[in-house]
Amino acid sequence: MNDVPVIAIDGLASSGKTSVSKQLSKKLKFYFLDSGILYRSIGYIHKLESLDLNSEKEVKNIINNIELLPSKDLQFQVFYKNKDITNFLYSEEIGLQASIVSQYKLVRDLLLFLQHSCVQNPGLIANGRDMGTKVFPNAKLKIYFTADLEIRASRRHKQLLESGINSDLESITNMLKDRDNSDKDRIISPLKAADDAIIIDSSNLKIDTVLDKILELYKISEA
Ligand code: DC
Repeated sequence: MNDVPVIAIDGLASSGKTSVSKQLSKKLKFYFLDSGILYRSIGYIHKLESLDLNSEKEVKNIINNIELLPSKDLQFQVFYKNKDITNFLYSEEIGLQASIVSQYKLVRDLLLFLQHSCVQNPGLIANGRDMGTKVFPNAKLKIYFTADLEIRASRRHKQLLESGINSDLESITNMLKDRDNSDKDRIISPLKAADDAIIIDSSNLKIDTVLDKILELYKISEA
């Protein structure tokens, strides 16, 4: 498993990392794990079932019922009790829930195994907050995305509208700001760039430019 290449892509919410990761996965034909969906799943299930996130038994029971299966487009989908819940996970409210549940050590520790199980040939694009620092410290290439808050909020707003979810820009901006703070300030695995990560500010960059840059960096890392 150690020789399967992993590209770790971390960064702020709505910094463009997921769009770039999807494109990279297409180009390289690598599997794509958006680790945020795992925390979103726990947030979603927590909302439905009011879990005690300090109870090892309860958290284990939930995580044992979660399965990650790759779809045709190589992207891992989340199944809970054999039901595909992926489509319920993308609202900003569930994002905020995810940010809260992600502060629990038990949740983070127990999700490690599921994330590691996604490393499969020919390779994995792993996207999240602590891919380069904690989950895949030996990743072949580590990228850290950042972008201005206003630009991220307007991208997110547009994305939600396109997927038919009503929202207003001001509340999106506030929710992203809250999420930035809680992701950066949490004690366990806070959001930060790994020492060996390459930092990309995507505020004024087009996705194709970023993609070309990462592909070039990956080629160099292989040489
Ligand atoms: O990437 P996202 O917006 O789907 O992530 C939702 C939340 O999940 C994010 O605010 C913090 C948490 N998260 C995390 O703590 N670690 C990760 N590797 C991915 C997400």
